[in-house]
Amino acid sequence: MDNVLTFDGEAVEPATDVLRRGGLVAIPTETVYGLAADATNGEGVAAIYAAKGRPSFNPLIAHVADIAMAERYVTFDPLSRKLAEKFWPGPLTLVLPLKEASGIHPLVTAGLPTLAVRMPKGNVGTIIRTLGHPIAAPSANTSGKISSTTAQAVRADLGDKVDLILDGGACAVGLESTIIKIEDGKAHLLRPGGLAAEEIEKVLGQQLHRVDQRAAIQAPGMMASHYAPDAAMRLNAEDVREGEALLAFGPVRARNAERAVAVLNLSEAGDLKQAAVNLFSYMKQLDRFGATTIAVEPIPEIGLGEAINDRLRRAAAPRDGA
Ligand code: TXA
Ligand code: MG
Repeated sequence: MDNVLTFDGEAVEPATDVLRRGGLVAIPTETVYGLAADATNGEGVAAIYAAKGRPSFNPLIAHVADIAMAERYVTFDPLSRKLAEKFWPGPLTLVLPLKEASGIHPLVTAGLPTLAVRMPKGNVGTIIRTLGHPIAAPSANTSGKISSTTAQAVRADLGDKVDLILDGGACAVGLESTIIKIEDGKAHLLRPGGLAAEEIEKVLGQQLHRVDQRAAIQAPGMMASHYAPDAAMRLNAEDVREGEALLAFGPVRARNAERAVAVLNLSEAGDLKQAAVNLFSYMKQLDRFGATTIAVEPIPEIGLGEAINDRLRRAAAPRDGA
């Protein structure tokens, strides 16, 4: 795998060089792998859309090294600042008003007056600091496919469309970041993710307003069908039918489980954090068994279960076209 490099200190310079030239680097973050370009480089950002086959109306997240870097590009209201101080670096993205003449390429925001920003955990910050600009990075997967949580999965999905893949091992969270937008002091949850809504509510002292994600305008990335494996998905399954694979959670309860062409358990102990870590790679693995359908046992809608169920519902949604 000629374009894969172990992510240690020596990888920082070559990775930054690729970004400076307007190239693409796949980066490990605590949530999922990202497909990164310099957010101020139009050629680089355009290459992201091309590699993913992504509709260009779908804006990207700008990853910053710290709050001070974010402030060069966006304006923080008091609640957003509170969240950034509490949860950054971490799996939280804030949608904030973009400053004028910010230098962020308009392809990043798809022309919106706001910018989604987040400070990821880990060594990526060193690359961002060395580059001196935020990096735009959607999840490193073909548009509509399952997000990648390992360098091998990125390589299998995107191959040579990426100049360099940094291998930082498996992602610790396994789900994309939670996206929050504060408007007039009210907190809106645009996408459930790796930071549980309850934790945000505790810090804000208010309930999050769940945005109807099919109302597409707030977060155009919220297309119904997403994260789609080749197999169909059957959620809240209480039994296993002919030809199905089983994605279990907790002690297996589904009837006829012995029928399954393959079984993977997201967490035998029923731990949602562990289930989040395993979700995308298990969906991909089960897909390889050629099952017609992946039956999924019920997952409780609490904590990270909200984001897990969100991704499962998208994977199960009717596919447009194919
Ligand atoms: O954990 C993550 O968030 C990962 C890692 C790589 O950081 N990134 C990620 O990016 O999931 P992506 O592009 O797959 O999802 C970004 C989401 C999309 O749903 C997009 O519509 C939304 O963020 N978004 C971006 N800018 C926005 C804006 N200005 N207003 C509302 N939603 C926005
Ligand atoms: Mg994505």
